[in-house]
Amino acid sequence: MAEQSSVGATGVLSPQEVAGREAFEELIAEDSRVEPRDWMPADYRKSLTRQMSQHAHSEIIGMQPEANWITRAPSLKRKSILMAKVQDEAGHGLYLYSATETLGTSRDELTDQLIYGSAKYSSIFNYPARSWADMGAIGWLVDGAAIVNQVPLCRASYAPYGRAMVRICKEESFHQRQGWEILYELSHGSPAQKQMAQDAVDRFYAPALMMFGPPDADSPNSQQSMAWNIKRFSNDELRQRFVGMIVEQAEALGLTLPDPELRFDEESGQWIHQDLDWDEFMRVIKGGGPCNAQRMARRRDAHEDGAWVREAAAAYARDRADEMDEVA
Ligand SMILES: [Fe+2]
Ligand SMILES: [Fe+2]
Repeated sequence: MAEQSSVGATGVLSPQEVAGREAFEELIAEDSRVEPRDWMPADYRKSLTRQMSQHAHSEIIGMQPEANWITRAPSLKRKSILMAKVQDEAGHGLYLYSATETLGTSRDELTDQLIYGSAKYSSIFNYPARSWADMGAIGWLVDGAAIVNQVPLCRASYAPYGRAMVRICKEESFHQRQGWEILYELSHGSPAQKQMAQDAVDRFYAPALMMFGPPDADSPNSQQSMAWNIKRFSNDELRQRFVGMIVEQAEALGLTLPDPELRFDEESGQWIHQDLDWDEFMRVIKGGGPCNAQRMARRRDAHEDGAWVREAAAAYARDRADEMDEVA
Protein backbone atom coordinates (compact mmCIF):
# COMPACT_ATOMS: atom_id res chain seq x y z
CA MET A 1 0.00 0.00 0.00
CA ALA A 2 1.30 3.47 -0.82
CA GLU A 3 2.70 5.31 2.15
CA GLN A 4 2.85 9.07 2.48
CA SER A 5 5.76 9.25 4.87
CA SER A 6 9.14 7.83 4.04
CA VAL A 7 10.72 8.34 7.44
CA GLY A 8 9.30 6.86 10.65
CA ALA A 9 9.14 8.63 14.02
CA THR A 10 12.66 7.49 14.75
CA GLY A 11 13.95 8.94 11.50
CA VAL A 12 14.83 5.47 10.22
CA LEU A 13 13.32 4.10 7.03
CA SER A 14 11.45 0.82 7.41
CA PRO A 15 12.52 -2.03 5.08
CA GLN A 16 9.25 -1.65 3.11
CA GLU A 17 9.91 2.05 2.67
CA VAL A 18 13.46 1.44 1.50
CA ALA A 19 12.15 -1.09 -1.02
CA GLY A 20 9.37 1.31 -2.07
CA ARG A 21 11.77 4.17 -2.61
CA GLU A 22 14.12 1.99 -4.63
CA ALA A 23 11.27 0.76 -6.81
CA PHE A 24 10.07 4.34 -7.32
CA GLU A 25 13.51 5.59 -8.28
CA GLU A 26 13.89 2.73 -10.72
CA LEU A 27 10.53 3.50 -12.33
CA ILE A 28 11.56 7.13 -12.82
CA ALA A 29 15.02 6.22 -14.10
CA GLU A 30 13.61 3.91 -16.76
CA ASP A 31 10.88 6.42 -17.64
CA SER A 32 8.09 4.05 -16.59
CA ARG A 33 4.80 4.88 -14.96
CA VAL A 34 3.83 5.19 -11.32
CA GLU A 35 0.41 3.72 -10.50
CA PRO A 36 -1.76 4.83 -7.53
CA ARG A 37 -0.90 1.79 -5.37
CA ASP A 38 2.85 2.12 -5.90
CA TRP A 39 4.97 3.64 -3.16
CA MET A 40 5.78 7.27 -3.90
CA PRO A 41 7.60 10.03 -1.98
CA ALA A 42 5.31 12.36 -0.02
CA ASP A 43 6.63 15.36 -1.98
CA TYR A 44 5.82 13.70 -5.32
CA ARG A 45 2.27 13.02 -4.15
CA LYS A 46 1.86 16.54 -2.81
CA SER A 47 3.27 18.23 -5.89
CA LEU A 48 1.07 16.16 -8.24
CA THR A 49 -2.02 16.76 -6.13
CA ARG A 50 -1.39 20.50 -6.38
CA GLN A 51 -0.67 20.48 -10.12
CA MET A 52 -3.51 18.14 -11.10
CA SER A 53 -6.12 19.84 -8.92
CA GLN A 54 -5.11 23.28 -10.24
CA HIS A 55 -5.49 21.83 -13.71
CA ALA A 56 -8.96 20.47 -12.85
CA HIS A 57 -10.02 23.81 -11.34
CA SER A 58 -8.82 25.60 -14.49
CA GLU A 59 -10.96 23.40 -16.72
CA ILE A 60 -14.04 24.07 -14.61
CA ILE A 61 -13.53 27.83 -14.16
CA GLY A 62 -12.56 28.01 -17.84
CA MET A 63 -16.14 27.11 -18.77
CA GLN A 64 -17.37 30.50 -17.59
CA PRO A 65 -15.98 32.99 -20.14
CA GLU A 66 -17.35 30.90 -23.00
CA ALA A 67 -20.63 29.84 -21.39
CA ASN A 68 -21.29 33.57 -21.28
CA TRP A 69 -21.57 33.55 -25.11
CA ILE A 70 -23.69 30.44 -25.69
CA THR A 71 -26.94 32.39 -25.75
CA ARG A 72 -25.42 35.00 -28.09
CA ALA A 73 -23.71 32.72 -30.62
CA PRO A 74 -24.39 34.08 -34.13
CA SER A 75 -25.92 30.86 -35.53
CA LEU A 76 -27.33 27.52 -34.46
CA LYS A 77 -24.19 25.81 -35.78
CA ARG A 78 -21.90 28.06 -33.74
CA LYS A 79 -24.08 27.60 -30.67
CA SER A 80 -23.94 23.80 -30.86
CA ILE A 81 -20.17 23.80 -31.43
CA LEU A 82 -19.62 26.14 -28.47
CA MET A 83 -21.90 24.08 -26.23
CA ALA A 84 -20.00 20.91 -27.14
CA LYS A 85 -16.72 22.65 -26.36
CA VAL A 86 -17.87 23.93 -22.96
CA GLN A 87 -19.21 20.46 -22.11
CA ASP A 88 -15.83 18.99 -23.05
CA GLU A 89 -14.19 21.32 -20.52
CA ALA A 90 -16.55 20.02 -17.81
CA GLY A 91 -15.47 16.50 -18.78
CA HIS A 92 -11.79 17.49 -18.55
CA GLY A 93 -12.40 18.79 -15.04
CA LEU A 94 -14.09 15.52 -14.07
CA TYR A 95 -11.34 13.25 -15.44
CA LEU A 96 -8.74 15.34 -13.66
CA TYR A 97 -10.57 15.42 -10.32
CA SER A 98 -10.93 11.64 -10.56
CA ALA A 99 -7.25 11.23 -11.41
CA THR A 100 -6.32 13.49 -8.48
CA GLU A 101 -8.50 11.47 -6.11
CA THR A 102 -6.27 8.44 -6.80
CA LEU A 103 -3.56 10.34 -4.89
CA GLY A 104 -5.70 10.27 -1.76
CA THR A 105 -7.52 13.63 -1.62
CA SER A 106 -11.28 13.50 -2.10
CA ARG A 107 -13.06 15.56 -4.70
CA ASP A 108 -15.08 17.29 -1.96
CA GLU A 109 -11.87 18.43 -0.36
CA LEU A 110 -10.40 19.60 -3.66
CA THR A 111 -13.58 21.53 -4.42
CA ASP A 112 -13.51 23.13 -0.98
CA GLN A 113 -9.90 24.19 -1.57
CA LEU A 114 -11.04 26.10 -4.64
CA ILE A 115 -14.31 27.53 -3.36
CA TYR A 116 -13.54 28.27 0.26
CA GLY A 117 -9.74 28.12 0.28
CA SER A 118 -6.99 29.64 -1.77
CA ALA A 119 -6.40 27.01 -4.49
CA LYS A 120 -5.17 28.55 -7.73
CA TYR A 121 -6.31 28.09 -11.32
CA SER A 122 -5.00 29.36 -14.63
CA SER A 123 -4.71 33.16 -14.69
CA ILE A 124 -6.13 33.36 -18.23
CA PHE A 125 -9.69 32.70 -17.11
CA ASN A 126 -9.77 35.89 -15.08
CA TYR A 127 -9.93 37.99 -18.24
CA PRO A 128 -13.33 38.94 -19.64
CA ALA A 129 -14.75 37.61 -22.93
CA ARG A 130 -16.04 40.85 -24.41
CA SER A 131 -17.06 39.97 -27.97
CA TRP A 132 -17.95 36.98 -30.12
CA ALA A 133 -14.45 37.17 -31.59
CA ASP A 134 -13.12 36.36 -28.13
CA MET A 135 -14.55 32.84 -28.61
CA GLY A 136 -12.20 32.60 -31.58
CA ALA A 137 -9.20 34.04 -29.74
CA ILE A 138 -9.78 31.79 -26.73
CA GLY A 139 -10.05 28.68 -28.89
CA TRP A 140 -7.06 29.54 -31.04
CA LEU A 141 -4.70 30.98 -28.40
CA VAL A 142 -5.86 29.61 -25.04
CA ASP A 143 -6.71 26.08 -26.16
CA GLY A 144 -3.68 26.26 -28.47
CA ALA A 145 -1.40 27.06 -25.52
CA ALA A 146 -3.11 24.33 -23.51
CA ILE A 147 -2.25 21.79 -26.23
CA VAL A 148 1.43 22.78 -26.27
CA ASN A 149 1.50 22.49 -22.48
CA GLN A 150 -0.48 19.28 -22.27
CA VAL A 151 0.80 17.05 -25.07
CA PRO A 152 4.04 16.35 -23.15
CA LEU A 153 1.91 15.62 -20.05
CA CYS A 154 0.50 12.55 -21.84
CA ARG A 155 3.87 11.02 -20.89
CA ALA A 156 3.78 12.23 -17.27
CA SER A 157 5.23 9.66 -14.89
CA TYR A 158 2.01 9.48 -12.86
CA ALA A 159 -0.06 7.09 -14.97
CA PRO A 160 -3.62 8.32 -14.20
CA TYR A 161 -2.57 11.87 -15.13
CA GLY A 162 -0.98 10.76 -18.40
CA ARG A 163 -4.01 8.65 -19.34
CA ALA A 164 -6.43 11.51 -18.65
CA MET A 165 -4.31 13.83 -20.80
CA VAL A 166 -4.49 11.60 -23.87
CA ARG A 167 -8.21 12.08 -24.26
CA ILE A 168 -8.10 15.70 -23.17
CA CYS A 169 -5.53 16.56 -25.84
CA LYS A 170 -7.66 15.04 -28.59
CA GLU A 171 -10.55 17.25 -27.54
CA GLU A 172 -8.31 20.31 -27.23
CA SER A 173 -7.39 19.94 -30.90
CA PHE A 174 -11.04 20.33 -31.82
CA HIS A 175 -11.26 23.37 -29.52
CA GLN A 176 -8.35 25.07 -31.17
CA ARG A 177 -9.70 24.28 -34.60
CA GLN A 178 -13.11 25.80 -33.86
CA GLY A 179 -11.44 28.95 -32.50
CA TRP A 180 -9.27 29.23 -35.58
CA GLU A 181 -12.33 28.89 -37.79
CA ILE A 182 -14.26 31.61 -35.96
CA LEU A 183 -11.31 33.99 -36.37
CA TYR A 184 -10.77 33.01 -40.01
CA GLU A 185 -14.38 33.80 -40.90
CA LEU A 186 -14.27 37.12 -39.07
CA SER A 187 -10.91 38.15 -40.47
CA HIS A 188 -12.18 37.43 -43.99
CA GLY A 189 -15.49 39.20 -43.37
CA SER A 190 -16.35 42.91 -43.23
CA PRO A 191 -13.76 45.47 -42.01
CA ALA A 192 -15.68 45.71 -38.72
CA GLN A 193 -15.54 41.91 -38.28
CA LYS A 194 -11.84 41.85 -39.04
CA GLN A 195 -11.30 44.64 -36.51
CA MET A 196 -13.24 42.63 -33.91
CA ALA A 197 -11.00 39.60 -34.55
CA GLN A 198 -7.84 41.72 -34.29
CA ASP A 199 -9.05 43.33 -31.06
CA ALA A 200 -9.66 39.89 -29.51
CA VAL A 201 -6.17 38.68 -30.48
CA ASP A 202 -4.68 41.94 -29.14
CA ARG A 203 -6.21 41.26 -25.73
CA PHE A 204 -5.51 37.52 -25.47
CA TYR A 205 -1.98 37.28 -26.91
CA ALA A 206 0.08 38.25 -23.84
CA PRO A 207 -2.17 36.50 -21.27
CA ALA A 208 -1.96 33.33 -23.44
CA LEU A 209 1.86 33.48 -23.39
CA MET A 210 1.72 33.80 -19.61
CA MET A 211 -0.21 30.52 -19.39
CA PHE A 212 3.11 28.66 -19.51
CA GLY A 213 4.00 30.13 -16.12
CA PRO A 214 6.83 32.38 -14.94
CA PRO A 215 10.25 32.45 -16.66
CA ASP A 216 12.42 29.43 -15.84
CA ALA A 217 14.62 31.46 -13.50
CA ASP A 218 11.57 32.25 -11.33
CA SER A 219 10.00 28.80 -11.43
CA PRO A 220 11.72 26.81 -8.68
CA ASN A 221 9.26 23.86 -8.77
CA SER A 222 9.90 23.17 -12.47
CA GLN A 223 13.29 21.58 -11.90
CA GLN A 224 11.95 18.99 -9.48
CA SER A 225 8.93 18.36 -11.64
CA MET A 226 11.22 17.63 -14.60
CA ALA A 227 13.42 15.34 -12.49
CA TRP A 228 10.29 13.34 -11.65
CA ASN A 229 9.30 13.12 -15.36
CA ILE A 230 6.07 14.99 -14.73
CA LYS A 231 7.09 18.00 -16.77
CA ARG A 232 9.18 17.32 -19.89
CA PHE A 233 10.04 20.84 -21.02
CA SER A 234 10.58 24.08 -19.14
CA ASN A 235 8.07 26.96 -19.13
CA ASP A 236 10.23 29.05 -21.46
CA GLU A 237 10.79 26.17 -23.88
CA LEU A 238 7.06 25.55 -24.17
CA ARG A 239 6.30 29.25 -24.53
CA GLN A 240 8.90 29.47 -27.29
CA ARG A 241 7.41 26.51 -29.09
CA PHE A 242 3.95 28.09 -28.91
CA VAL A 243 5.11 31.44 -30.31
CA GLY A 244 6.82 29.65 -33.19
CA MET A 245 3.58 27.86 -33.93
CA ILE A 246 1.23 30.85 -33.91
CA VAL A 247 3.36 33.22 -36.00
CA GLU A 248 2.54 31.36 -39.22
CA GLN A 249 -1.03 30.75 -38.19
CA ALA A 250 -1.55 34.49 -37.56
CA GLU A 251 -0.29 35.19 -41.08
CA ALA A 252 -2.77 32.71 -42.53
CA LEU A 253 -5.52 34.44 -40.57
CA GLY A 254 -4.42 37.84 -41.87
CA LEU A 255 -4.12 39.09 -38.29
CA THR A 256 -1.19 40.72 -36.51
CA LEU A 257 0.29 39.50 -33.25
CA PRO A 258 0.46 42.55 -30.95
CA ASP A 259 4.16 42.24 -30.26
CA PRO A 260 6.45 45.01 -31.54
CA GLU A 261 9.54 43.03 -30.52
CA LEU A 262 8.60 39.83 -32.32
CA ARG A 263 11.47 38.81 -34.62
CA PHE A 264 13.03 35.70 -36.05
CA ASP A 265 16.48 35.02 -34.68
CA GLU A 266 18.50 33.35 -37.44
CA GLU A 267 21.13 32.07 -35.06
CA SER A 268 18.82 30.13 -32.75
CA GLY A 269 16.19 29.52 -35.45
CA GLN A 270 13.52 30.79 -33.06
CA TRP A 271 10.99 33.58 -32.81
CA ILE A 272 11.80 36.01 -30.02
CA HIS A 273 8.82 37.58 -28.26
CA GLN A 274 8.48 40.67 -26.09
CA ASP A 275 9.04 40.62 -22.33
CA LEU A 276 5.82 39.88 -20.50
CA ASP A 277 4.38 41.82 -17.60
CA TRP A 278 5.00 39.37 -14.76
CA ASP A 279 3.67 41.82 -12.17
CA GLU A 280 0.32 41.62 -13.91
CA PHE A 281 0.56 37.82 -13.93
CA MET A 282 1.20 37.68 -10.18
CA ARG A 283 -1.59 40.16 -9.50
CA VAL A 284 -4.10 38.12 -11.51
CA ILE A 285 -3.01 34.79 -9.99
CA LYS A 286 -3.44 36.25 -6.51
CA GLY A 287 -7.00 37.37 -7.16
CA GLY A 288 -6.53 40.88 -8.58
CA GLY A 289 -7.54 40.19 -12.20
CA PRO A 290 -10.56 41.81 -13.83
CA CYS A 291 -12.87 38.81 -13.26
CA ASN A 292 -11.47 36.81 -10.30
CA ALA A 293 -14.24 37.81 -7.88
CA GLN A 294 -16.98 37.19 -10.44
CA ARG A 295 -15.59 33.77 -11.44
CA MET A 296 -15.33 32.59 -7.84
CA ALA A 297 -18.76 33.94 -6.86
CA ARG A 298 -20.35 32.12 -9.80
CA ARG A 299 -18.51 28.90 -9.00
CA ARG A 300 -19.62 29.09 -5.36
CA ASP A 301 -23.25 29.74 -6.32
CA ALA A 302 -23.23 26.85 -8.81
CA HIS A 303 -21.77 24.54 -6.17
CA GLU A 304 -24.33 25.57 -3.55
CA ASP A 305 -27.23 25.40 -6.02
CA GLY A 306 -26.14 21.88 -6.93
CA ALA A 307 -26.21 20.60 -3.34
CA TRP A 308 -29.58 18.85 -3.87
CA VAL A 309 -28.19 16.95 -6.86
CA ARG A 310 -25.28 15.61 -4.81
CA GLU A 311 -27.62 14.69 -1.95
CA ALA A 312 -30.04 12.93 -4.32
CA ALA A 313 -27.18 11.02 -5.99
CA ALA A 314 -25.80 9.94 -2.61
CA ALA A 315 -29.29 8.82 -1.43
CA TYR A 316 -29.76 6.85 -4.65
CA ALA A 317 -26.37 5.18 -4.26
CA ARG A 318 -27.26 4.24 -0.65
CA ASP A 319 -30.60 2.75 -1.73
CA ARG A 320 -28.90 0.73 -4.47
CA ALA A 321 -26.32 -0.55 -2.00
CA ASP A 322 -29.10 -1.59 0.42
CA GLU A 323 -30.92 -3.38 -2.41
CA MET A 324 -27.75 -5.23 -3.34
CA ASP A 325 -27.29 -6.25 0.30
CA GLU A 326 -30.82 -7.63 0.40
CA VAL A 327 -30.23 -9.62 -2.79
CA ALA A 328 -27.00 -11.01 -1.33
FE1 LIG B 1 -9.82 21.54 -21.53
FE1 LIG C 1 -10.25 23.27 -24.35
